[in-house]
Amino acid sequence: MKNITKLISVLAALAIALICCGCGAKSMTAKEGKLIMATNAEFPPYEYKEGDKIVGIDAEVAKLIADKLGLELEIADVDFDSIIPGVQSGKYDMGMAGMTVTDERKEKVNFSDSYATGVQVVIVREDSEIKSIDDLEGKKIGAQQGTTGYIYASDTPENGGYGEENVTGYQNGALAVEALKGGKVDCVIIDNEPAKAYVAANEGLKILDTEYVTEDYAICFAKKNTELQEKVNDALKELIEDGSVKKVVDKYIKAD
Ligand code: ARG
Repeated sequence: MKNITKLISVLAALAIALICCGCGAKSMTAKEGKLIMATNAEFPPYEYKEGDKIVGIDAEVAKLIADKLGLELEIADVDFDSIIPGVQSGKYDMGMAGMTVTDERKEKVNFSDSYATGVQVVIVREDSEIKSIDDLEGKKIGAQQGTTGYIYASDTPENGGYGEENVTGYQNGALAVEALKGGKVDCVIIDNEPAKAYVAANEGLKILDTEYVTEDYAICFAKKNTELQEKVNDALKELIEDGSVKKVVDKYIKAD
């Protein structure tokens, strides 16, 4: 009897070990021929919804990458601040969301080469008394949770921010812009291209120029998933070099 119990527990341990190996191997490469990209599709022109479809620069470039790798692209639309944790845990193969490369994020994930850039700008109502970023002190600021705009704005004044108590984080950029229109906040800090798209789509808003540093957008991967990172990066490099990425960007961003 005792021996049988022992045998069973040994077999169970073996089975668990085998299953775990399976999962480990799976998370190292794309699952069943799929490339699962996490994004937050409230960020035109990089990613946004047209009906049920997620379109935009990131969606199209990711599709080109997946095609090159012979994988089927699957896009998961999630909150921006759950992209990195989901990539870290292996739930998603990569994160592509107009995501800025920062030192803090680099501690959690690896990044591809950069394929685009952005700058944080300030959106205000047309009749706003805020004329430049020097007028932001003590104003109510809106930003999307977890974004660089939120991170900069909520920093302490000594570090160039406006203090956490003055910043409201919204689940996405569209909600922050709604709050601005409804007078719940006095301005919204967000990346320049989405800012242009939101201002074009909503009456009575304008953009203030800022001189914040240029941010690099890149694709993120789990630290341990260097194999996929290299493959995607090689594909991305080719697509940048042969002009395919520029073609997609030009389709969505008209030179002004
Ligand atoms: N570039 C900013 C950042 O990385 C904002 C990105 C927001 N992207 C999105 N798909 N909502 O923090």
